[in-house]
Amino acid sequence: MPFIPEEVIDQIAARADLVEIVLKYVPNLKQAGSRWKGCCPFHQEKTPSFIVNPDSNTYHCFGCGAGGNVFKFIMAIENLDFPGAAQMLARQYNVLIPEPEPYRGGRKNDASEKSDYNLRERLYLLHEKLAAWYASWLKNNPDSKAAAYFRSREIDPVFAQRFQIGAAPDSWDAALQWARQNGFTLEELQAAHLVSESKNNAGNFFDFFRNRLIFPIWNEQGRVVGFSARQIEKEQGGGKYVNSVESPIFKKGRILYGLNFARPDIPKKGSVILCEGQMDVIAMHTAGCTNAVAPQGTAFGDDQAAILHRYTDTVLLATDSDSAGMKAILKDASILLPRGFHLKVVTFPGGKDPDELLHNSGPEAVRKAVEDAADFFEFLFRHASEQHDPNSPDGKVRIAGTLLQYIRLLDNEVARDSYLHWLAGRLGISAENLQIEMKKTESRQVRQPVRQERPQESSEADKPAQGPLPLSMTDPKLKIVLRELLRHLLHNQACVEKAARELPPDDLDEGPVAMAVTIIVQAHLNGNWAHGAAEITRSLAACPLDCSEVFTLLTEEVNPPKSDEIPLRIVEDCMQSIHVIHLKQQIGEIRRELNRLPPGEERTGLVGEFMNLTRELAETGKKRSKET
Ligand code: GTP
Ligand code: MN
Repeated sequence: MPFIPEEVIDQIAARADLVEIVLKYVPNLKQAGSRWKGCCPFHQEKTPSFIVNPDSNTYHCFGCGAGGNVFKFIMAIENLDFPGAAQMLARQYNVLIPEPEPYRGGRKNDASEKSDYNLRERLYLLHEKLAAWYASWLKNNPDSKAAAYFRSREIDPVFAQRFQIGAAPDSWDAALQWARQNGFTLEELQAAHLVSESKNNAGNFFDFFRNRLIFPIWNEQGRVVGFSARQIEKEQGGGKYVNSVESPIFKKGRILYGLNFARPDIPKKGSVILCEGQMDVIAMHTAGCTNAVAPQGTAFGDDQAAILHRYTDTVLLATDSDSAGMKAILKDASILLPRGFHLKVVTFPGGKDPDELLHNSGPEAVRKAVEDAADFFEFLFRHASEQHDPNSPDGKVRIAGTLLQYIRLLDNEVARDSYLHWLAGRLGISAENLQIEMKKTESRQVRQPVRQERPQESSEADKPAQGPLPLSMTDPKLKIVLRELLRHLLHNQACVEKAARELPPDDLDEGPVAMAVTIIVQAHLNGNWAHGAAEITRSLAACPLDCSEVFTLLTEEVNPPKSDEIPLRIVEDCMQSIHVIHLKQQIGEIRRELNRLPPGEERTGLVGEFMNLTRELAETGKKRSKET
């Protein structure tokens, strides 16, 4: 690292205690002999496979392969680059890093890493000082329009101070002048997008934020990285809120407003409240709901979901009670449910958002709204029932259609099954039929791309069942079978040999366990079975699905069997089970198509296929009973 001197890095490394650091993120880290063991913070797991070695001050996860020293750990968990991690550790362990020098444009002869680091540090400093300047300007100018507007919002003074609310003066260049007098360069102001260049008068610069209420935006570590500015007069141009443009220190998709304040309280309260904007977050915190955050200047996305996952698995969605709020709930659910979050929805009777409710009905009403948050599916059911009659057959179809779209996103079999039964109860129909409906929506989804890849001849296009349907991985029995199969393929080369010879190549298609099976078989075929596990870890690192099952299998300790006979029998059995499940799925699908189709040529073709598959299933069954 060129800029932070080598000896400073060494000093940090010597003082930082990895066990102490990891304990903040992994509360279940326990001493186990000379090492410490807990659940890995970098992937989902229930059995601990994350090891910290205090002697070498390093960590390693046997599940996901993550590993490194203190710097690597902080970089990964706090989403920081190396200098950022070093800074954070330096502050924590009282190591002094020399102040960066002013940035005067990217000097190409300089090590670019050094100037990038310098620029970022200068931008942090600029934002921190500017936030303080905006706040003091608001305090010192009580006669300004900004101050009058600020008073009209009736923000609790303690929280106005905690969230460092300020104001930008009604001037073209007050902030620019202030910054120049305080040693910041024009390049730095431009890099932060805090000034704009005049279109008519090149070389002339003016302030980006003018005559607005200012909310500093902090990153997760509590450093100011941008601003959000609210208009104080209706007729003011430029939209109700204007946010900082992205800069080397401000990446919108990775920021959650309020997270720096909420982070200790999210695990304590067991949930995070996801609001729409900064006024909502401030209202929530004022009411004592200190686990509230909001995306800033962009819709909630995947990166933010991943950040929240480090703190909790329960999200309370608290959007405005309007159609935009409803849309946001559905979009957030489609991001959060597949990641294994439990979702609730907060509604605000007597106000359109937390800030209004706080002012109309007081803090207790806000706390009660949060306590009364409804389970997401219950909320969705109530919403759908307002639009369709849950007692009429048509209403049931529509309500089920809406809810199944979200139930199928759940990544947990038990949760999925529970919600199917719950919905069946609410609609007074059988869970089995709901399950069939859900499978249909799923297989439709898998099927379409398969069809599109084929040349579309018009006479062929509408024929059902072109080639076998891919195996649907939602069958709970299939999951068990695949796990057992993978376990043997990982630990026994005779088994993988057999699978490589006999496993029908088209059967496995979807899901992390199936992917792992395919990878280990392929590794064997490449003469590289011993590195199969590493190959799986690498491939799944980028997989957006929950891969914890695979990682658990990879770290499992298995006693080598006395002979290959029993493992080989088990593998044989697994492969047959997969084949049977696949046959049954295809038969079920054809049966449904047959129920739908009128008599005709198409139907006759399908009946033939149905007979073939049924015969094959019967023969497989006979063969199996002979063998056992
Ligand atoms: P107040 O009206 O001040 O109480 O704020 P609010 O939080 O109720 O605003 P609203 O519900 O209209 O919007 C929610 C969030 O969306 C805001 O906090 C902003 O972060 C963002 N937002 C609203 N209006 C704008 C806009 O005009 N431009 C941008 N970029 N963001 C906006
Ligand atoms: Mn609002």
